[in-house]
Amino acid sequence: MKNGVLTKSKRELFSENMRRDIAFLVIFSFFAAIMLMSDLSVNKFIGFFSICIVLLSIYYRDILRYSPEYIRHRKYLLLLGVLLVGTIFGARLADYFISSLSQVLGYISPETAMYILPIPAGALLVTLLFDFHSALFFSFITSLLAGLWLAEATAPLYFFIGSLTASFGVIRCKKRSDILKAGLLVSSINVLIVTVLLLISKELFTGGAVSPLIAAALSGVIVAAIVSLALPLLEYFFKHTTDISLLELLDLNQPLMRNLLIAAPGTYHHSIIVGNLVEAAAEAVDVNPLLARVTAYYHDIGKVKMPEYFVENQAGSVNKHDKLSPHMSSMILISHVKEGIELAKQFKLPKMVMDIIEQHHGTNLITYFYQKAKSDTGEDPPEEEYRYPGPRPQSRVAALVMLADAVEAASRVLKDPTSSRIEALVDKMVNHVFLDGQLNECELTLKDISLIKKHFTFVLTGIFHRRIDYPGFDFDVEKKPGSREGSGDGGGDKGQTEKSKSRSAKTA
Ligand SMILES: [Fe+2]
Ligand SMILES: [Fe+2]
Repeated sequence: MKNGVLTKSKRELFSENMRRDIAFLVIFSFFAAIMLMSDLSVNKFIGFFSICIVLLSIYYRDILRYSPEYIRHRKYLLLLGVLLVGTIFGARLADYFISSLSQVLGYISPETAMYILPIPAGALLVTLLFDFHSALFFSFITSLLAGLWLAEATAPLYFFIGSLTASFGVIRCKKRSDILKAGLLVSSINVLIVTVLLLISKELFTGGAVSPLIAAALSGVIVAAIVSLALPLLEYFFKHTTDISLLELLDLNQPLMRNLLIAAPGTYHHSIIVGNLVEAAAEAVDVNPLLARVTAYYHDIGKVKMPEYFVENQAGSVNKHDKLSPHMSSMILISHVKEGIELAKQFKLPKMVMDIIEQHHGTNLITYFYQKAKSDTGEDPPEEEYRYPGPRPQSRVAALVMLADAVEAASRVLKDPTSSRIEALVDKMVNHVFLDGQLNECELTLKDISLIKKHFTFVLTGIFHRRIDYPGFDFDVEKKPGSREGSGDGGGDKGQTEKSKSRSAKTA
């Protein structure tokens, strides 16, 4: 019976999603058909609408096959539809301006006007916001639709090659200036195609060849300008972060990261190592490595408010928790999550980074202070007072950051970090998080967890590798006051060891 209910609800969900997707197809086909109309004609509308429905259905099938995550999230379908209709709308708008301009500058033929239309801007935006594969099909559809609208035989070929060039131009886009480079590439290729087309029509060496060539040369620059303006707006309205924005956040000179380095250097280095760990495992578990690293960098920014209460920033100084009750200490530790979200809002970090700040501890128990409260009072304190409020990780990347965070903190207590000890530690920490139910709400599989362990062990082994001894140097001594000898930080000191033992419990 239970299974029956489950199957029915799944079916209901499926048909609900199907209805939603069909509604999207009809609405966007309707608007695309309207955009193609040059005069009011019912016959034309029915024809254009039918063609749009067929093309968009094939595109939908392609997305369903190769990028099903775009179907699962309504905003991605909506964004693709907006980009498709917007590309034709933008081209029509440009056409209108050119017609108006021709009244001022003199007659500009429709063939010449065609070469300047910024159709490739759509494909370029799809590459930046989605991926190259989605942009390929998108280029195909927009080029065909533009051909229908302009009723020009060479238009689909010209726009398709221009769109493909634009997509290739930003396939490895690292900064916003790369968009201009892609635009210049589009201009160059468009000039080449127009030259070939003029050669075929035997017009290349006539006076009429100049204006189409100038139009083709300008087209790429216009594409770059439109994309540069539209990209931040689309990122903002659709709460979608492109790799360009992530790369900007990766810059360690960003104010938040600089603050973290100055106020909480221990947390800063912890975050960098967590970044290395998640990036190494990301690709193996189908997570964007760039997104993983960026979220790792910012996961603990809330610690800048009270850095001295976190063990990684207490090197050599007094432990502030000694004068506090375990309950107060745990409240301070828990507060770094809330403070992090506040700072993320203040500095306008992307929503996905904010989500990971909120979820990176899930509902973990702060074992160290819970046990301390238990031994101080002799009775079991309420567990919820010593647990982070959650939510538990809701995505693969959030789970990855949680696991790396726990493993990095625990690795600091390893006295003699041999590779087998590191492997055992990673195994123990990941299993602990898993058995505590912290991964229950994300999509990580057991195979993913095994791959994560493997990659974490590999990176940590690299970090803690042993070097050969330095003959004549004894680093295991503390520096005496006034002495010039000894540069060790007292790694063998009992007090330090005891302190570091509690590090994994306290490091958040
Ligand atoms: Fe952390
Ligand atoms: Fe944390």
